[in-house]
Amino acid sequence: MKDNIIKGCFLDSDSPDRIRVVENAFLPVIDGICRGIVPVIPEAYRGLPVTDYGDRLILPGMSDLHLHAPQFSFRGMGMDLELLDWLDTYTFPEEAKYSDPVYVEQAYGYFTDALVHSTTTRAAVFATIHPAATLDLMEQLERSGLQCFVGKVNMDRNCPDSVREPDVQSALRDTEAWIQAANSRFVRTKPILTPRFIPSCSDALMTGLKTLQTRYSLPLQSHLSENYGEIAWVRELSPAAKCYGDAYDRFGLFGGEHPCIMAHCVHSTDEELELIKRNGVYIAHSPESNMNLASGVAPVSRYLELGLRVGLATDVAGGSQISMLRAMMHAIQASKLRWRLLDDSIRPLSLEQAFYLATVGGGAFFGKVGRFAKGYDFDAVVLDDSSLSHPQPLDPRSRLERAVYLADDRHLFAKYVAGKKIF
Ligand code: GUN
Ligand code: FE
Repeated sequence: MKDNIIKGCFLDSDSPDRIRVVENAFLPVIDGICRGIVPVIPEAYRGLPVTDYGDRLILPGMSDLHLHAPQFSFRGMGMDLELLDWLDTYTFPEEAKYSDPVYVEQAYGYFTDALVHSTTTRAAVFATIHPAATLDLMEQLERSGLQCFVGKVNMDRNCPDSVREPDVQSALRDTEAWIQAANSRFVRTKPILTPRFIPSCSDALMTGLKTLQTRYSLPLQSHLSENYGEIAWVRELSPAAKCYGDAYDRFGLFGGEHPCIMAHCVHSTDEELELIKRNGVYIAHSPESNMNLASGVAPVSRYLELGLRVGLATDVAGGSQISMLRAMMHAIQASKLRWRLLDDSIRPLSLEQAFYLATVGGGAFFGKVGRFAKGYDFDAVVLDDSSLSHPQPLDPRSRLERAVYLADDRHLFAKYVAGKKIF
């Protein structure tokens, strides 16, 4: 990784309500770390090579806090059912195919290629129950230069045999062997514990996963309060739990000491939100998925006001698009319909807030990620929007807004992860 100076038009977010724009500026990047945006090159850095991106937009790399790699193969299909039927009809049969190494290599190749050619630099990814396939995915992501958490999924009940771990002992044995293999083989790609959701995991499995979490000091990702049928089912399965979140917390698998991402939180109660806040759980807001599966719309601007940790997610293939620019658009659009049709006391999301969620909000899960401030990892995407022609002058914020609604991977000109140039 070469130390250098990046020149161009920088946009980043220092709070949910503000986009910082710095035009014609320099950003020294030393050991992959930002040294702060400056108007002239400081004496100490004279002589370093300068990469000049001219008038193009330089944005922080985006963090996709939740998506399913094996579901990329059926993105944009099977959008006619709600969550539980969608899982049984489309998702589980597709995930069963990941026992076949030939299918795995090809499918995860397509997934990795699409992720590389997106604005995403960091991601928290679900794989399937299969350890070999999960290691194959991690291998491909490691080679790509992206920095991801990847989870071998755990599930031992309420699903077909083809995606069910045969018993708790073998589930835990496989999971531990996978953790050890991942820790020894990868630097950029890290394991994350991944019980699919409460309906898929027995109490004994959850207890065993807690032991592994403590032994290997691992973060955890799962799903929470996405769909009414799912929430009612969890109430039946965990009658002693005070809320869905508490059904994880009873096993010590809901944040606190170990970082935790919960996808969706569309229908979280006040009690659940309090627990989320107390335990520092990250909410992965997945607006397109929540529309496609008719789950609802999470009140995200309220979550920001409550000071919760929130990031943005595509949730492929509940979401059809792997693009975080598109996820920002969907978050804004969904919030407007929620405001108009359901509850006008909760403001729709602004562009500023959506940009914050996609960069800083989710980036925080990965460390000092998502801004160009001094000390942050240099994760960046450079957008060339010159083919989006227009007769009038446009300021950088307007160009960012237009990129959210119009840009796609053809407009991606360069990409860096922790200072490493991906292309
Ligand atoms: N809940 C449990 N599994 C899944 C999944 O694969 N996708 C979504 N959106 N929700 C889930
Ligand atoms: Fe999901």
